[in-house]
Amino acid sequence: MPDYGVDSMRVQDFTIREAAEGDFDAAYDLTSSLGYPKLDRAAFAATFAEVLQHPEMVLVVAELTDGRVVALASISHRPQLRLAGKIVTLDELVVAGDARGLGVGRTLLDEAKRLAARLDARRLQLETNRARESYKRGFYVKNGFIEADSAVMRIEVAQTSVCDRPSSGRPTS
Ligand SMILES: CC(C)(COP(=O)(O)OP(=O)(O)OC[C@H]1O[C@@H](n2cnc3c(N)ncnc32)[C@H](O)[C@@H]1OP(=O)(O)O)[C@@H](O)C(=O)NCCC(=O)NCCS
Repeated sequence: MPDYGVDSMRVQDFTIREAAEGDFDAAYDLTSSLGYPKLDRAAFAATFAEVLQHPEMVLVVAELTDGRVVALASISHRPQLRLAGKIVTLDELVVAGDARGLGVGRTLLDEAKRLAARLDARRLQLETNRARESYKRGFYVKNGFIEADSAVMRIEVAQTSVCDRPSSGRPTS
């Protein structure tokens, strides 16, 4: 695994550390709890292995003193021309339901901020849904994030074959 210099540190009753292969089950369960369409376990396993090895990704977990992994933050970074520097993206952040409100989420955000500083990045960014409780509670704003006036545009590539597209090229919905 590439060494990103994420320090193992004890904060109250949990430890923040880089993820390892043995965290697969916890990572699958935590990511599944985010409420996206059901994740294929084999496809998730392949992607999990890829993320652990990826030179521009850091997967961080929080572990309680009893060894249970209760949170995950997946962070990636890459150079961006318009910034003339690096962007760091918090791709996934999730804390198990019974471990929320303990400061784990804030500590994981701090870990992403520390990584951004260490990489001398220009920006730290995340995408979230305004319907999420965390957004409504102002969790990110309280932690220093400013909401951008951006639209997220996407194509779900694996679900849209070229043949499915209308001849005009315009989306049907
Ligand atoms: C968003 C999330 C990661 C925050 O993690 P967390 O460990 O609960 O966060 P923290 O404990 O550091 O802070 C949560 C804040 O909400 C408050 N809070 C109170 N009760 C809470 C509860 N039952 N659950 C969550 N937060 C609670 C905390 O006091 C804290 O507020 P403060 O900063 O004013 O003190 C977590 O709630 C989560 O996984 N949510 C579901 C998935 C999600 O929304 N992920 C983000 C998608 S981008």
